Amino acid sequence: MLSIVHSCALKGVDAVDIAVEVNSGERGDLKFVIVGLPDAAIKESYDRIFSALLNSGYQIPSTRTTVNLAPSYIRKEGSFYDLPIALGVVQSTGQCLLSHMGEFVIAGELGLSGKIRGIKGGLAFALQAKKESKKLLLPVESAKEAAFVDGVEIFAVGTLNEAVKFLSGQINPSPVPHQNFPLEPKNGKHHLDFSEVKGQHVLRRAVEVAVAGGHNILMMGPPGAGKSMVAKRIPSIMSPPTFDEFLDTMRIYSAAGLLIAEGRAYFERPFRSPHHTISGAGLLGGGSVPCPGEISLAHNGVLFLDEIAEFRRTTLESLRQPLEDGEVTISRSSGKFKFPCNTMIVGAMNPCPCGYLGDKNHHCKCSFADVQRYRSKISGPMIDRFDIQIGVPAVRIEDMQSKMFAESSAEIKSRVEEAAKIQEKRFKSSKNKNNARMSQREITEFCELTREPLDILERAMKQLALSARAYDKILRVSRTIADLEGEEKISTTHVLEAIQYRSLDRGYSD
Ligand SMILES: Nc1ncnc2c1ncn2[C@@H]1O[C@H](COP(=O)(O)OP(=O)(O)O)[C@@H](O)[C@H]1O
Ligand SMILES: [Mg+2]
Repeated sequence: MLSIVHSCALKGVDAVDIAVEVNSGERGDLKFVIVGLPDAAIKESYDRIFSALLNSGYQIPSTRTTVNLAPSYIRKEGSFYDLPIALGVVQSTGQCLLSHMGEFVIAGELGLSGKIRGIKGGLAFALQAKKESKKLLLPVESAKEAAFVDGVEIFAVGTLNEAVKFLSGQINPSPVPHQNFPLEPKNGKHHLDFSEVKGQHVLRRAVEVAVAGGHNILMMGPPGAGKSMVAKRIPSIMSPPTFDEFLDTMRIYSAAGLLIAEGRAYFERPFRSPHHTISGAGLLGGGSVPCPGEISLAHNGVLFLDEIAEFRRTTLESLRQPLEDGEVTISRSSGKFKFPCNTMIVGAMNPCPCGYLGDKNHHCKCSFADVQRYRSKISGPMIDRFDIQIGVPAVRIEDMQSKMFAESSAEIKSRVEEAAKIQEKRFKSSKNKNNARMSQREITEFCELTREPLDILERAMKQLALSARAYDKILRVSRTIADLEGEEKISTTHVLEAIQYRSLDRGYSD
């Protein structure tokens, strides 16, 4: 007898339909065959499924049985289909009629005892089940994250036995209630605040502008200047995401299996800071069934690359295209996988190997060649990707000794939020959501300059030998500076400030 169970596979961050067909009672040798699963996981599936069936009091097929996971061209993770296959076997071998099975999308990994284990992608599966107007049957952990999606009936099961009883109508559990994303993590919010950062007015301002418009920012300065300190406080001044933005980011976490593991599903933009030893695949995404990398986990938020010159050059270079496109594309024989990365990059580095070039209080021991070698770890085109580049001097002694608290994160955040509102209105009908990602057409429309600022920009272009990309970036940053002041027109002072933020284009020499 043939049984068909609806399930899903993850393709990138989206779920696609998979039909699990189980046919038992075929003529021929006694054999259990699974087709459509190219994963090495296939062999392990047999063992888990048979053991779970036996330990749950069911029989394993005594006739030839074929399992087909269709369509076969989609690459699948073996463990997702343990539960649908086991259920298919129970029904197709006539052990129990699962009359409600057709109403559900089902996925889950089985333990040898018949216990059901969590899988990644629960959120995407819920979105897909909603689209298909089906109910969803998932392991308990996965159901918790699926329950963030409204408008779909989700049921959680702990064991194979429970699933059989439920689908055959012997028990009638209530659906998992829909839940909203919590506003704070379980152990309270971070308490890092900008009021602790003394002096460094230029850096504080540059970071505010960067966060307000979503601009990539590169900080270069001696050790102990407060670069890492400031970067770690960025989450405290970011505007909250919209619900759709947040759901989009959480879909990526879910596809990476992190939502369950990290318990980090609270309503905030992501801030990721991978160590510089990270691999290209870790940063961009990879694997035989591709999984999102750090740049996508920071989607709609910030990726902080501390000590950026220490990252492998090839790893950094591979970020260039995704930064431009706002998505990572990974090609596999089974097709292209896309992961969004509308991500703001924050980079921090020392100016030279010893760290003290340009520091008035320390003697720099590096030769010219040392400095050149160090700087060449980041290519010109990569530096060009940073809209805001800023030299950070050492903290002044007077500032460090001051007992005064600087402006708090809350005050900065209120200005950032105002600028975010202006951008939300501006880009209402656009795919892009912030100034940093304005298209060429949008730059023409929203960054028109009057004579005086235009003259200044043209002069700066010539004198500083800026690239065409730098020209656009100056316009985008000028737009954000004007927005922070609530000004509709970009003025000369706005453009002048934005030009200041191209310090590395000119070579950082002081
Ligand atoms: N502007 C500052 N105000 C207050 N403390 C600072 C400042 N800059 C640095 N510090 C202190 O020095 C420590 C090291 O700073 P850090 O941000 O790690 O420097 P960097 O990343 O530039 O090398 C910080 O943890 C903080 O205690
Ligand atoms: Mg640091």
